[in-house]
Amino acid sequence: MGTVNGMTVEGATVPTITLNNGVEIPQFGFGVFQIPPADTAKTTLSAFEAGYRHIDTAQMYQNEEGVGQAIADSGLGRDEVFVTTKLNNDGHGTESAVSALEASLRRLRLDHVDLYLIHWPIPAKDLYVQTWKGFERLLADGKARAIGVSNFQPEHLDRLARETKVVPAVNQIELHPRLGQVELRKYHEQRGIATEAWSPIGQGDSLTEDRIVELAGKYDRSPAQIVLRWHIQHGSIVFPKSSNPERMRENIDVFGFELTDDDMTAIDNLNQEKRRGPHPNLFGA
Ligand SMILES: NC(=O)c1ccc[n+]([C@@H]2O[C@H](COP(=O)([O-])OP(=O)(O)OC[C@H]3O[C@@H](n4cnc5c(N)ncnc54)[C@H](OP(=O)(O)O)[C@@H]3O)[C@@H](O)[C@H]2O)c1
Repeated sequence: MGTVNGMTVEGATVPTITLNNGVEIPQFGFGVFQIPPADTAKTTLSAFEAGYRHIDTAQMYQNEEGVGQAIADSGLGRDEVFVTTKLNNDGHGTESAVSALEASLRRLRLDHVDLYLIHWPIPAKDLYVQTWKGFERLLADGKARAIGVSNFQPEHLDRLARETKVVPAVNQIELHPRLGQVELRKYHEQRGIATEAWSPIGQGDSLTEDRIVELAGKYDRSPAQIVLRWHIQHGSIVFPKSSNPERMRENIDVFGFELTDDDMTAIDNLNQEKRRGPHPNLFGA
């Protein structure tokens, strides 16, 4: 139970996943990509009212101020909300990664984030190892409770393992039924890196797949709930975006049913290795 915007609101019952440094992350959160800066405070507050307690933002989204305002206005305690932000592509390098988080913290009105991610590896710049050393310092200084990466490929993770000390707590990757990322998820599991799924419903694309629509009928659930439940049963962390309070509530309501093993496999079989976003090796150079 907590107070949001003066109202007593119960957080949704969401399981947590224990990251490799012991920090607990709610497995279900709210993503704010493409929410216009001017709408972000109101939309994030609606998400809190719908029971969300984990927000995924980024310097690139230019809406950290709105997230910070919503947290302040909500009345929720700092330890009731899990906040992730991500380093922008122009901030690679040890010192700039550190100062970029300090600027984020000012915009978020926080003294620490729960998770700080390198948004893209940008191998053409070849600065992600130095950047990670800045992240290690922020972790040691308590400015981030956990540090991780996004859009990293095995070769980037291997290099961090060889040249730095801290194993990333998460890798946030594009992941939805048409892009199953089977090998990368297996790699994460072997190394104790949690998988976070971005665009978990394929920005809406997954919802019109015949098989998903058929399963929605079978379980008397929406197509979005079927896809989000599939992620949850695979152990991934998800944070679908919606600007619509009704869909926010629908999306997080996936803890009262279970897909059978056969139906999990049927969704696994929709994999076409089809990305919506750019290839991680090419973006941001
Ligand atoms: N690390 C990265 O590089 C990266 C890249 C992309 C995204 N992300 C993160 O992942 C989060 C989620 O990804 P995303 O925003 O790209 O895509 P998404 O969550 O897969 O899909 C969002 C889209 O689906 C619609 N939608 C949401 N719930 C729905 C429902 N129940 N029924 C029908 N339509 C629904 C939304 O429209 P309405 O708003 O109208 O409901 C919106 O157009 C982002 O917000 C961001 O935090 C990270």
